[in-house]
Amino acid sequence: MQKHFIGGVIPGAIIAQDVYGTDGVLLIKKGSMFREHYIPRFIDAGVQEIFIEENGSMTPETVNTIRKSLNIQDVIHEKTRAHAQNQIKKTMMKFKAVSSSDIQRVGQMVEEMIEQLLDKKDFVFALSQLRSVDDYTYQHSVNVGVLALIIGIDLNLNKEQLRHLGMGAILHDIGKIMIPEEIIKKPAKLTSDEFREVKKHTEYGYDILIQTNIHEEAALIALHHHEKYDGTGYTRGLRNTKIPLYSRIVAVADVYDAMSNDRVYQRKSAPDKVFREITHQGDKHFDTQIMETFARHINIYPTGTGIILNSGHRGIVLYQNKLYPESPIVRIFLPKEQNPKRLYFDMDLSLNTKYYIVETFS
Ligand SMILES: [Fe+2]
Repeated sequence: MQKHFIGGVIPGAIIAQDVYGTDGVLLIKKGSMFREHYIPRFIDAGVQEIFIEENGSMTPETVNTIRKSLNIQDVIHEKTRAHAQNQIKKTMMKFKAVSSSDIQRVGQMVEEMIEQLLDKKDFVFALSQLRSVDDYTYQHSVNVGVLALIIGIDLNLNKEQLRHLGMGAILHDIGKIMIPEEIIKKPAKLTSDEFREVKKHTEYGYDILIQTNIHEEAALIALHHHEKYDGTGYTRGLRNTKIPLYSRIVAVADVYDAMSNDRVYQRKSAPDKVFREITHQGDKHFDTQIMETFARHINIYPTGTGIILNSGHRGIVLYQNKLYPESPIVRIFLPKEQNPKRLYFDMDLSLNTKYYIVETFS
């Protein structure tokens, strides 16, 4: 581990210690890969030096080259994702004056997303590794939209139903514009009063949407996306199939994406950990059939994920094993001093049960 001046770090290097801004907000986790566009962000946050890992033959450049060659693809086009994020941002900035034409523009984005998803026969969803705190809400909204649509397509919803589901999913948290920003962005646990305030975003969201030309079933997603299958959720404490289908779908998508990402007050968890945790709460909080559908499309170890095996070896995921999603095919890097001739080898973890993944890094 070595300390480097921020301007001198080579993109692709592995960060050896969590990096915090001078305001105490976590900027990036230990084990992440350093990228060039972090520099201005780090400097803005008052960070001048960071610790970089030196790890045998697994140089950041090697990992980067492999990642590039793997051609990691998103389930929707990059342009569509960026447009959708922008549209949500614009809509939310309108505050109380969200109009039917804003909703119509969101509808066009959702339609584009549906077309792209229907075009793919077999899709798995992998989360992007880094998101900024400021744009969290918009990125989260689009991800929830994509995840909900993936579940909806698998459940054989028709195009019109998908449109209502996608719109409600992407706008599910619109009511948050009515909650004071200092509560939404609070970098600590909320007090019970603050939490009571946050909970109101479901009612606010429904009220905003129902005044536009959005379909009522879509607006109801804003109202019911925090209901739980056992009746312990809010806004109405509905249980089982009393919770509208679209809201049951969005509940799963919302929790999964939120847990997988850095939020202001919480660190993100690795996809595999989130997956296990969420399936664990499954029958209490979620509709089991929707959970199972969702599980079929989640890539717990997306291609390019950094992994650490029980043996301590570090590597990177090359491909998934469809039948054994917990045991992908991985490229393991050997420390130079251990084997100067061979730098890495590839291994199918489903055929080598002695080895398994214990940790991931991005
Ligand atoms: Fe919400």
